[in-house]
Amino acid sequence: MVTCYIGIGSNLGDRENNIKKALTLLHGCLNTEVEKASAFYETQPQGCPGNAGRFLNAAAKIKTAFSPRELLRQLQSIEKQLGRIRPGKRNSSRSIDLDILFYNNQKISLPSLKIPHPRLRQRAFVLKPLKEIAPETIRSLAKETKIISTLSGMRGFIAKEKAQNMTIGFVPTMGFLHEGHLSLIRQAKKDCDTCVVSIFVNPIQFGPQEDYKKYPRDLEQDSILAKSAGASCVFYPNAKDMYPPDYLTYVNVEKITDYLCGASRPGHFKGVATVVTKLFNIIQPHIAYFGQKDYQQALVIRKMVEDLNMPITIKTMPIVRECDGLAMSSRNAYLTTQERADAVVLYQSLQKAREMVRQGQHDARIIKTAIKTAILKKKTAKIEYISVADARTLEDREVFRQKTLIALAVWIGRTRLIDNIIIEV
Ligand code: PAF
Repeated sequence: MVTCYIGIGSNLGDRENNIKKALTLLHGCLNTEVEKASAFYETQPQGCPGNAGRFLNAAAKIKTAFSPRELLRQLQSIEKQLGRIRPGKRNSSRSIDLDILFYNNQKISLPSLKIPHPRLRQRAFVLKPLKEIAPETIRSLAKETKIISTLSGMRGFIAKEKAQNMTIGFVPTMGFLHEGHLSLIRQAKKDCDTCVVSIFVNPIQFGPQEDYKKYPRDLEQDSILAKSAGASCVFYPNAKDMYPPDYLTYVNVEKITDYLCGASRPGHFKGVATVVTKLFNIIQPHIAYFGQKDYQQALVIRKMVEDLNMPITIKTMPIVRECDGLAMSSRNAYLTTQERADAVVLYQSLQKAREMVRQGQHDARIIKTAIKTAILKKKTAKIEYISVADARTLEDREVFRQKTLIALAVWIGRTRLIDNIIIEV
């Protein structure tokens, strides 16, 4: 008997029951027993044709005497018994999905069977349940990633790369990586020879009542995801090195930080501009990547780089959304099932606004009222701001013209979410 790990997913029918049945059938197979199964985790579908439902994902540790090919055949037969139709469309909904993740440390590369599972390292929805039942496996996958946690170590790495004329792409993050971050990493890898990803939950950009302490953190999972998206290394400094007790210097970008999130989170952008300056000084990238979801942040960084003559190109990449339109954010992890369903209203209200403008409604007050009405239909929602502003200066606009930004900050339960669109008139 050998030890194997199986990834399990279902987003069609009675998902919980499908997974339970699959585990029972697997346990009932000749020469096979299920030793351990993880809890079931609810995740968003990826790739999503149409309106695919949310997945339940799990992982199981099994002992089997089947060969890899026989085990695959058994899994396919269980999928069939549970109503899975093959061949289905790519990423289509399925009653059950059973994948061999590992087969006793063996490497297999056949056209119909690759073990370890080739996309394992790219999938948070597999890594998370797997970590629960095989923490040592996740630890050893994470060890494949170069993690640098000292400032001098990071400088040394960059010096070596630059001595070989490598171009450096840099993706600053606070971790708990999702597809939005991974799209920045992939772009950095495309543009540059070396891609550095920093993971640092920056204490000075959080207000005293904000979520610094409970901000989600998972270095092992992040390391695996970052490397599989193309990161050459992860810079993971600690707060004491970044801000020693005698620390005194801050970077403040004026005016454009008075609006939107700057108005409701005093000191936030000072914290962001300061940490990004420090990271830029340590990593000295040629190009740095930011997501459009944090529109104001990207604008602040661009202005800072311009004003302080930093020799760095800033690239802002499009918002990455879940299948239903919710902008990806590490904070989405805080949402309950009901809140997650309500949260899509940010995107939907922005789409409605876009349509109204397209049909000729250019009065910002009317658009804001329509957005407000849509959002307040959700019981869990509380609006922090709805802003219609000049996309360059962030000053309020009464009428839509040229490039106009609509930006929202909305509390869904106890989670603060932001989203935005640019409308060109
Ligand atoms: O966008 C973020 O995650 C953070 O604000 C950043 C840019 C990494 C600075 O801490």
